[in-house]
Amino acid sequence: MLERIRTPCIITIFGGTGDLTHRKLIPALYNMSVEELLPDELMIVGVGRRPLSTQEYRDSLLESVTKHSRHPIRTDIWERFKERIHYFRMNLSESEGFSSLKTWLESLDEKAGTQGNRLFYLSVAPSLFEPIVLHLYRHGMADNLGAWQRVIIEKPFGRDLRSAAFLNHVIESVFPPQNIFRIDHYLGKEMLRSLMVIRFGNAVFERIWNSRYIENIQITAAETVGVENRAGYYESSGALRDMLQSHLLQLLALVAMEPPISLDIKAIRDEKVKFLKSLLKMDDGLFKNNIIRGQYGEGSIDGNTIRGYRQEKGIDPASNTETFIALRILAGNFRWGGMPFYLRTGKRMPEKTTYVVLEFKSMPEILYFKEYKGMQPNLLEIRIHPSEGISFSFNAKKPGSGNEISTVRMDYCQNCSYENNSPESYERLLADALRNDQTLFTSWEEIEASWNFVDSIARSWEKETVSFPNYTPGTWGPTASNQLLERYGHHWWNL
Ligand SMILES: NC(=O)c1ccc[n+]([C@@H]2O[C@H](COP(=O)([O-])OP(=O)(O)OC[C@H]3O[C@@H](n4cnc5c(N)ncnc54)[C@H](OP(=O)(O)O)[C@@H]3O)[C@@H](O)[C@H]2O)c1
Repeated sequence: MLERIRTPCIITIFGGTGDLTHRKLIPALYNMSVEELLPDELMIVGVGRRPLSTQEYRDSLLESVTKHSRHPIRTDIWERFKERIHYFRMNLSESEGFSSLKTWLESLDEKAGTQGNRLFYLSVAPSLFEPIVLHLYRHGMADNLGAWQRVIIEKPFGRDLRSAAFLNHVIESVFPPQNIFRIDHYLGKEMLRSLMVIRFGNAVFERIWNSRYIENIQITAAETVGVENRAGYYESSGALRDMLQSHLLQLLALVAMEPPISLDIKAIRDEKVKFLKSLLKMDDGLFKNNIIRGQYGEGSIDGNTIRGYRQEKGIDPASNTETFIALRILAGNFRWGGMPFYLRTGKRMPEKTTYVVLEFKSMPEILYFKEYKGMQPNLLEIRIHPSEGISFSFNAKKPGSGNEISTVRMDYCQNCSYENNSPESYERLLADALRNDQTLFTSWEEIEASWNFVDSIARSWEKETVSFPNYTPGTWGPTASNQLLERYGHHWWNL
């Protein structure tokens, strides 16, 4: 159970009328209110351009909370919660609005006892990140004198190393590093947080967590949806920048980093950065046989016609943006030298799921492995989302007089035991930002190392042509993704 947050504050959400605010941020804050985590002196200000009164804004949020909240809506709690919410209309590209916003927030401070503390949430298109931060600076809204001001920046953080470095420079010249929260909501997922405990809290695992005992490690993050209403953003990002640079590399770093010397945030970040820096770049030679990209075409799922990516609203009919990527990654360090990590992510896959599989080396083909060809290697499966849990599969003799062998699974289902108790990522992360705990946020050094790796792929892609579309909706991507693993004597584990 999380402890109640004590610090008074106004959370100002730039992009207060947007999709993320409606689907995730306000439902998360409502859930925190249900669990009595919010201090009495906490106000929420949604900022947008639409002409709405505060009452209309609250009504529109009620609809979203009813649809998306983890806890069912309770009228008595909503009635109290909605009093915290206000709407402020302004155009973020214009300076005057910030001056009025500042005065208005100060008047709210007086009424609500929020003491000048601010959490600015930048839930807007990345092109607005820099202007907003600079406006906050110019209007004295980020001077951190007396009260504190923190900023949460949504992903994507840049679109390559250069733009990310520039953005970081701007933000760090306005906010002190400890007040900058670069969010990657994957890091708020319960199983990601459990990963370190699984690894470093169990002697049986950590001893064999290396290339001597593990044959390969696979990470799958699959979505069933297509591009939905995010065409503009997705066209310029694709699976590489949208998923690999942030979520997948963060997950990989937690799976593969060295044990940190303490649970101190710096110690953990240092190990993640060290691992990310050890990844072999995908330029030239390595690139050729190790990366597959795909784009879904037209098809049908469960009798429903599915438009191809190029036919989606707002997408260029000749678009070469990838909606799928699979790759084989090598890390140049002692623990993992030579052992492949296989990562894949895509849209319009057969299921929405995120998981990690550790495939252990097979026994020598002397006893059972010689006679029973179908025997499976041991697998450790870590399910991240939507099902959360961990399973280990091993071979056992089938009961009876025969000598048959079958693979059995020991299974721990985390979200079966703690039903409805797992807070959503955004609940966890908003609470952490209010408490000034950066552990689950990404440091600049991690982002820099990820872009360094991802840029090596983007550079290589510029040199070659692709033939899209190349996979059918409702499948696990292009057949070349399977061939990538077959070439090395492996195959994907579809859980
Ligand atoms: N949606 C998701 O699931 C998701 C997931 C992960 C990350 N993100 C990131 O979160 C951010 C927001 O995404 P979103 O999906 O919520 O976007 P969205 O639905 O397009 O919302 C954009 C918001 O920005 C506001 N806005 C745009 N230009 C403005 C301006 N000049 N002045 C004032 N307000 C302006 C819009 O307000 P008006 O419409 O009222 O003008 C709206 O509230 C993006 O960086 C995205 O990459 C989103």
